Amino acid sequence: MTIKRWMPPLMLVAGMLAGANASAQKFDGLAATPQMGWNSWNKFACNIDEKLIRETADAMVKLGLKDAGYEYVNIDDCWHGERDKDGNIAPNAQRFPSGMKALADYVHGKGLKLGIYSDVGATTCGHHPGSRGHEYQDALTYARWGIDYVKYDWCDSKGLSAAGAYATMRDAIHSAGRPMVFSMCEWGESKPWEWAKDVGHSWRTTGDIYACWDCEVNHGSWSSLGVLRILDKQAGLRVFSGPGHWNDMDMLEVGMGMTEDEDRAHLSIWSMMDSPLILGNDLRSMPESTRKILTNRAVLSINQDKLGVQAWRFLNEGPLEYWAKPLANGEWAFMVLNRGAQAVKLGYDWRQHDVSDDLSNRAIDLSKGGYKWRDAWTGKQGDTSKPLEFNIAAHSVVLLRLTKG
Ligand code: GLA
Repeated sequence: MTIKRWMPPLMLVAGMLAGANASAQKFDGLAATPQMGWNSWNKFACNIDEKLIRETADAMVKLGLKDAGYEYVNIDDCWHGERDKDGNIAPNAQRFPSGMKALADYVHGKGLKLGIYSDVGATTCGHHPGSRGHEYQDALTYARWGIDYVKYDWCDSKGLSAAGAYATMRDAIHSAGRPMVFSMCEWGESKPWEWAKDVGHSWRTTGDIYACWDCEVNHGSWSSLGVLRILDKQAGLRVFSGPGHWNDMDMLEVGMGMTEDEDRAHLSIWSMMDSPLILGNDLRSMPESTRKILTNRAVLSINQDKLGVQAWRFLNEGPLEYWAKPLANGEWAFMVLNRGAQAVKLGYDWRQHDVSDDLSNRAIDLSKGGYKWRDAWTGKQGDTSKPLEFNIAAHSVVLLRLTKG
């Protein structure tokens, strides 16, 4: 009798534990290559509405960005209205009068996916309702709306452990049952690369980006960082990156005021580093030169390479840095970055450098004919039998794909 009386509660507890374990995971199979898309923050900040999102989705299709691989249309901060008496979040009714479900349907109708933004705290960075205490409810709401991507920020996080807060939202998303990419935006503060492989599909490694080559802009309690400042903060992180769990160097600033050489270098660096490629400019009005940069297949294919091994810097010489990234099928991506403000005449003799990677167990192998190379930006071709000779402009890169000859 006694045993019988205690059976149901025990079974219940066991069932609950099994249920909890079943949800203690992220959705697998998402972001097998770094996520590609667009986000409203860099250009529009809080000045967003459903018209902008629809027009951006239209532009992504019409201008060939979708065909080039950009997939997610992500709404950042400030989409929120208030919570109702039951705690359910709704979008701002003036800015999103048709509601999020209708917007998701529209974006899906274009063959694209819709992303949304929330925060671990009670309030977001823009002082809108965050998900603290509403994680499961919000994840369920997003799933009902048809959301495909959740960026989860770290403002108002006092007293929270990052690992705990992000795992809670991961579990909430998983139990909501709709596959959603989980993009952790914790700015690298608690070294998420060390603990978040099974939590997020990507994690920000730094504070916010700024559209400059090498500046740091002080905002009081935090500062934003130019392209090189962010690159320099990636030292030692490549071992933590791989399919489904990427180091996120923040959204792109291509088309946001840097020179075209800087824009090309920025996209090249983010591609070599396997960072998510999330556009931040106004796609509806970008010049053709920007569109061409953003849709360069030779560059994007380096970022989207199936092997998913992040580049490493194997050499610096004055203002020049040399980076290599092993690609699938025995190929390599090879980048020379000129950080400096002067053009440099580059002469690189392939035979004088041993480029081998302990992480992937691969080496640039010059035996048996070496490699043919093709410049991802100019289409120029050559091979490794002769030294590489280039005039490399200030703040620019040479980016090559090496294929066994
Ligand atoms: C933080 C994030 C940014 C952006 C803003 C929105 O600064 O790092 O990417 O989402 O909040 O308020």
